[in-house]
Amino acid sequence: MVFPRHHLTTLLSTLLVVVCSSTSLSAGSIPERFPNCAVVTQSELASQVGRDVMRDGGNAIDAAVASAFALAVTHPAAGNIGGGGFLVYRGADGSTTTYDFREVAPRGATAEMWIDEDGNYDRNRHHSSALAVGVPGSVAGLHLAWTEHGKLPWKRLVEPAIELAEQGFEVTPGLAQSLAGSHDRFKISEAALDQFTNNGKLFVVGDRLVQKDLAKSLERIALKGPAGFYEGKTADLIVKQMKAMGGLIDHEDLKAYRPIQRSPVTGDYRGHKIISMPPPSSGGVTLIQMLNILENVNLREFGAGSANSLHWMAESMRLSYLDRARHLGDPDFVADQPIDLLISKQYAKEQHLKIAPDQAGISEIEQIQQLHESPETTHLSVVDGERNAVALTTTLEYSYGSGIVVSGGGFLLNNEMGDFNPVEGVTTLAGQIGTPANLTAPGKRMLSSMTPTIVERNGELLMVTGSPGGRTIINTVLQTIVNVIDHEMNAQDAVNYGRIHQQWLPDRIRYERNGFSPDTLNILLERGHVLDEAGAQGSAQIIVVDPENEGLQTGVDHRRPGAAAAGF
Ligand code: DON
Repeated sequence: MVFPRHHLTTLLSTLLVVVCSSTSLSAGSIPERFPNCAVVTQSELASQVGRDVMRDGGNAIDAAVASAFALAVTHPAAGNIGGGGFLVYRGADGSTTTYDFREVAPRGATAEMWIDEDGNYDRNRHHSSALAVGVPGSVAGLHLAWTEHGKLPWKRLVEPAIELAEQGFEVTPGLAQSLAGSHDRFKISEAALDQFTNNGKLFVVGDRLVQKDLAKSLERIALKGPAGFYEGKTADLIVKQMKAMGGLIDHEDLKAYRPIQRSPVTGDYRGHKIISMPPPSSGGVTLIQMLNILENVNLREFGAGSANSLHWMAESMRLSYLDRARHLGDPDFVADQPIDLLISKQYAKEQHLKIAPDQAGISEIEQIQQLHESPETTHLSVVDGERNAVALTTTLEYSYGSGIVVSGGGFLLNNEMGDFNPVEGVTTLAGQIGTPANLTAPGKRMLSSMTPTIVERNGELLMVTGSPGGRTIINTVLQTIVNVIDHEMNAQDAVNYGRIHQQWLPDRIRYERNGFSPDTLNILLERGHVLDEAGAQGSAQIIVVDPENEGLQTGVDHRRPGAAAAGF
């Protein structure tokens, strides 16, 4: 890490960045192209499932639903039926909507539940226990989206996942590595150890991962829809698991779960319409705030990866993430979020004036520090032959969620309760925020950063984007959009290009190793930015409508293993 002298104190409170794999700056990659339909996910098998659904006459929603169920089998770190997510939809007729299937806090949850008997914040309880499990939303949310827009029978969409779970599939290098990396976390539940080891031994490449209990749970979903998950045998198994491990979720919590259809949050960026996810995700609002600020400078003239571009993006991030921490939470509980103001052009003009063109701002005035978020989620993008489009991001929160597999059910439960602020009123530089908007309450949805987004140009579909990566998600999505709109990159270049992340506090820019030249980084240092070299940021899977022939370019992010496009 390199830093200018006046930031030494901030440095002390800077969170460590986990270095994963490296990425490299690229320009001139050739994106895969498909004339009709395309789907991009974190798993080749799941992408093929979506493609086959569209071959069979299914539309983008059908494909997204089928791919999402397949991901629950082939990409268990983040694909799920025991977690939640958000889906942004744009129909070929230009109509738009979103589906919020974020987990909710069980009825027994309270704002004080993360404080132990001695009055101390219990991080383990908040992030890694049965109490960290929110009521899952994925099955209900996918079903609602299908009910409103799907064409093929529901059963047809779940069947490929059943088959993958029942017959098993070959463990890829990425999966073997990921299962080994999380092995210790599986010790929380016997069923997880059983499911994610090969008779007690670590899976190796080429082994088959067979998940019979998961296949049965999926069969109940295929037959009965949400009732096959929130009621009956699966519900019994979840409640039994919760009781055995001191979790809160009961039958009533499961039965009461409802996904919510919400109007998207929309913005305009240099004449392009941005369609994204409103609260309880912070993604859309924060994304639009940043784009609005950036509209006041000429990023194209600055050039991709230039110190000027990075400076302005980082400063827009700094200001917008502060607003995120201050204001955003579940709108059904926090009515006074000033969203119209935050996404207004006037506010962006004022924010832009706070940014000095050649000097980094300082994030010390507000004593707000944000919580650690783990990087494990997954995004998929789909466009069908009619140009219906879906951006879907789904998560268990940590990699493999809570690590708890429901015994007899074969699926992982999330640890999404960790996204709530931990202690009311306690905001510390050491890593907590206690702002009221995102405190735990019964039935409340925890604030998210997931940013599934669709972009229009001249009233037509231009781009579908999204990424995992915890709080970095919003910035990753921002950069894919800027790369396509301002720098006119093709889909693959837009994904490959180096990424940065600033989130107000800690006050520093994380940049991807090998993503930017040393001279550029030196200019940023001279302007007073603190810089942290980091590994890969996010895993954006995007689709861009080819400006020349109206076909589809896919941008497949290889920062994490396994991602692939499929289409025809
Ligand atoms: O909802 C959120 O923002 C987080 N729970 C997402 C976590 C995440 O992205 C991890 N991904 N790689």
